[in-house]
Amino acid sequence: MEKREQLYEGKAKKVFATEQADRVIVSYKDDATAFDGTKKGTIVGKGVVNNRMSNYLMRLLEKQGVPTHYVEELNERETVVKKVSIVPLEVIIRNISAGSFAKRYGVEEGIVFDAPTIEFSYKNDDLHDPLINDYHALALHLATAKEIETIKTMAFKVNEVLKDYFLSLNVKLVDFKLEFGRLADGTIVLADEISPDTCRFWDATTNEKLDKDRFRRDLGGVEDAYKEMMHRVFGA
Ligand code: TMP
Ligand code: ASP
Repeated sequence: MEKREQLYEGKAKKVFATEQADRVIVSYKDDATAFDGTKKGTIVGKGVVNNRMSNYLMRLLEKQGVPTHYVEELNERETVVKKVSIVPLEVIIRNISAGSFAKRYGVEEGIVFDAPTIEFSYKNDDLHDPLINDYHALALHLATAKEIETIKTMAFKVNEVLKDYFLSLNVKLVDFKLEFGRLADGTIVLADEISPDTCRFWDATTNEKLDKDRFRRDLGGVEDAYKEMMHRVFGA
């Protein structure tokens, strides 16, 4: 696949056109941001970890019947994916209280929920990604009722597959953010990435944080946490 002009640059990835209209190449950067881009930094090697881990998890999910945008890993930072139009909703699943949930509802982190929760944020930088419900998403024509149902079903399925997988690595999947896209024919597929940038991972024995919260909260050992997750997934 030939890498052509850059189509888009986000906070953590660049997207390039290819000679095929329905394929793009994503290239993962080491740039890290938090709190709506107000905190900026570099996490050395992050792009490699996120690319390889996300691809591994997308392949695992495909095997379990979840359609994704994944096509082919080109090298340690670049991957061919199906071209999608992103549904402007960040889909967040939580198994354990943490982050904005703990803050919003005034509870401690670490409460294990009886059942996973789901919430949506409206992907809109100017508005700072506000929390949104199904009715508002429908009113704003961000997605159809059928698409929202599909997205919810797929998101909970992703959680079931990934929760078990990470527990096998002695990691608790606390919460995570997914994005979905539409193919040219309207099919909804899982898109974007699944990585320590977009998930909270806690060591199942010590509750040590092994994700981007080490950067967000200035805990130190950021690169080591990403390396540790890479090691648990790939054993190298
Ligand atoms: P939150 O507790 O800050 O709402 O985050 C929930 C999960 O979503 C957490 O695993 C981090 C992830 N996340 C992103 O991937 N991107 C974002 O912009 C935010 C705010 C959270
Ligand atoms: N990446 C997001 C931002 O910069 C926030 C986060 O992951 O905490 O806005």
